[in-house]
Amino acid sequence: MITLKSAREIEVLRRANVIVAEILDELKEKVAPGVTTLELDSLAEELTHKKKATPAFKGYKMAGRVYPRSLCVSVNEEIVHGIPSDRMLKEGDIVGLDFGVIYEGFYGDSAVTVGVGKPSEAAERLMRVTEEALYRGIEQLQDGKRLGDLSSAIQKTVESAGFSVVRAFVGHGIGKQLHEDPPIPNYGEPERGIRLKEGMVLAIEPMVNAGSWEVQIKEDGWTAVTSDGSLSAHFEHSVAITQNGPYILSKI
Ligand code: MF3
Ligand code: CO
Repeated sequence: MITLKSAREIEVLRRANVIVAEILDELKEKVAPGVTTLELDSLAEELTHKKKATPAFKGYKMAGRVYPRSLCVSVNEEIVHGIPSDRMLKEGDIVGLDFGVIYEGFYGDSAVTVGVGKPSEAAERLMRVTEEALYRGIEQLQDGKRLGDLSSAIQKTVESAGFSVVRAFVGHGIGKQLHEDPPIPNYGEPERGIRLKEGMVLAIEPMVNAGSWEVQIKEDGWTAVTSDGSLSAHFEHSVAITQNGPYILSKI
């Protein structure tokens, strides 16, 4: 069931998502060779508490598993749901930072991928195209358009650059729950799927692989990696559909 949000609810969702955006900005600043992914997780938690919010992912249950940390950090061939550890970032890595909070009963959720030092030109291009695909998708969030318009805009942007779209994970509605209907695939056909409506709030999150779209899950039960070991990038925004078009809640 898709829940439509009132203008007042959208303003609370805005505050939750601004908190996420501010924290992601601080985490990006901290990314450098020698920093461990667990240090990023600790910083994310500390900043969240300072802002009177609650980390959304710690203890979150998905498919019978409990996520153990507050931040997801996915390095290089890791696509999403990388678990922070004592792994040190190194020059040239690309790092997905995916973060969520609960604030006044509503969820915020956003993700970015950044380079450590100076990644290869190929890695930079993968990140650029993935972010571009996110924005091409967001442009389609207009009352009266359909979900397939968004999905196909993302897929076209990615595939025309020679990359592939991950199928195993999708975006989602967001509100009083982290994962609400509808599921939002990053591939599809224009003019298909449910009709988009004012009041929907959707987390759009393309995951893009440099090689094949196929994924594997590591032994930790969470970390999704590319089957062929190619690099992967992930960007996510939570967006409200308004009468004036898309309102990106997780952008400052
Ligand atoms: N941003 C991710 C998502 O939308 C994070 C969920 S990870 C989990 O789905 F740990 F919370 F499960
Ligand atoms: Co999400």
